[in-house]
Amino acid sequence: MAYQYITTPIYYVNGSPHIGHAHTSIMGDILKRYHLMHGEPTLYSTGTDEHGQKIQQVIEASGMEAEDFLAVQAGRFQELFDRCNVSYDIFVRTTHESHKRIVQEVLQKLYREGLIRKKEYTGLYCVGCEQFKMEAELDDQGRCRDHLTVPQKQTETNYFFALEPHRQWLIDWLTADDTLIRPDNYRREILGMLTEPLDDLCISRPRSRVWHGIVLPFDPNFVSYVWFDALLNYTSNIGMYHHPDFDRWWSNVTHIMAKDIIKTHIIYWPIMLRAAGFNPPKRYRIHGYWVAEGGQKMSKSLGNVVDPSQVIDAFGVDALRYYLAKTMGGNDAQISMELIRAVYNTDLANNIGNLHSRVVKFVTKRCDNRVPAPEAVHPDDQQLQESVARTCREIVDTIDLITLPDTVKSLVHTADTMNTYYNDMEPWKRVKDPSQTDRFLSICYVMLDCLRMFFQAARPIIPESSDKALVSIGADPVPDIPIAWQPKPGSLVPGAPMGETDALFPRID
Ligand code: ME8
Ligand code: MG
Repeated sequence: MAYQYITTPIYYVNGSPHIGHAHTSIMGDILKRYHLMHGEPTLYSTGTDEHGQKIQQVIEASGMEAEDFLAVQAGRFQELFDRCNVSYDIFVRTTHESHKRIVQEVLQKLYREGLIRKKEYTGLYCVGCEQFKMEAELDDQGRCRDHLTVPQKQTETNYFFALEPHRQWLIDWLTADDTLIRPDNYRREILGMLTEPLDDLCISRPRSRVWHGIVLPFDPNFVSYVWFDALLNYTSNIGMYHHPDFDRWWSNVTHIMAKDIIKTHIIYWPIMLRAAGFNPPKRYRIHGYWVAEGGQKMSKSLGNVVDPSQVIDAFGVDALRYYLAKTMGGNDAQISMELIRAVYNTDLANNIGNLHSRVVKFVTKRCDNRVPAPEAVHPDDQQLQESVARTCREIVDTIDLITLPDTVKSLVHTADTMNTYYNDMEPWKRVKDPSQTDRFLSICYVMLDCLRMFFQAARPIIPESSDKALVSIGADPVPDIPIAWQPKPGSLVPGAPMGETDALFPRID
């Protein structure tokens, strides 16, 4: 058992929250909920990145006060995550005073130690990325590959932080532990970037150009580079220099993100930490991009953008969570309302939801709204209970975001197994034969008990429907506190009140 600290990127507030943001924050939530089921204390942070030139531009265009604009935008992210049942412990906003103070402390420390130097520099700056780009990173028309815009040439005096002295250490660190980064191809990609000497990192912006940032403590004419500020949220959240609990969270951090921002997180961030006197992050879990059906990039002009709120309106929050968990591993994955509808109907409505509703309808009616008491344990019953318990145990134990689609497959497979048992046992025939009453009661009990294990194990992925299902079969939901969960066949209490519920996942055509 270990303390688990889970983080997502903090999202830029220049645009609206979209499916990619919902995805990463839902994945963090799923991971958190599984760690709680291991009995592990967890701390989970997500939030918004509110400084820098790109945000400054939209603040200026909005005609609003910066503070008001940022509060509105951060609120939109928070609202979406609340709708997605993301149970974050910390909602980061980089404009909070506590964060700003720590960023200034780190800058001051590096400056005092002579690690930050002023010089003139000319480079190609992509505002979308908030990064200087090397020629080799641009496409054949000289554009940023992510934003398809030509970066601006800038000559400026700024403060710089040398990365090169840490390159060999970084390579050794990346090579030493093959659980550090998953999937492994992203580690190889980073190692590829480390074959050449590293440029100094520009960690300031002149205030004459960027007024919206954290002022450098040693030169009020400059603000901090937004990435330097943003990355430090991961440590400022847990107190960095000031909090006695810092180490126990920091020593076991999991950073979750998409592949777009691995360079800042796996090159700049560990080096910043090392220079500031801290250990590098413990692990990274990287996912791909959501793209539209057919593999195209989502864009407003193509009309193929999937809006997470619309998905929730149409299919419910658990349909969204389920689709994301089932479909995205380490590589890019496709999404559209039609794809979600198909998976919803096949897996949730026709399989899991239908199984739940036919069993609950039948048992509540025939057993007087109470969990029946099983009579003798039959080998068929025992076999099902053991098989469901084993799979559910595996699901809860082996949780890793990169293999989450496999976890979802195991759930579907378990539902299939329960469906087969129920069809084979034909309790609706036995109920009419008085000599079979004992068998009938046992079959009903075993089905409910297996549904209990199933929905407890599925709860981190589909919490709302699982809780509904658990209540309907007279079982206890898994609490949102660190308690080591065991499937324990036979722990559903006979006589507990059941309650029929609306269909968990009504078919949507
Ligand atoms: O990069 N598919 O913020 P950002 C999957 N503020 N995930 C996606 C996605 C997509 N199409 N689009 C975005 C920033 N994401 C910085 C981060 S962290 C110290 C600072 C998700 O608003 C994914 O998690 O551009 C990706 O890494 C992140 O949003 C980028 O969010
Ligand atoms: Mg981005």
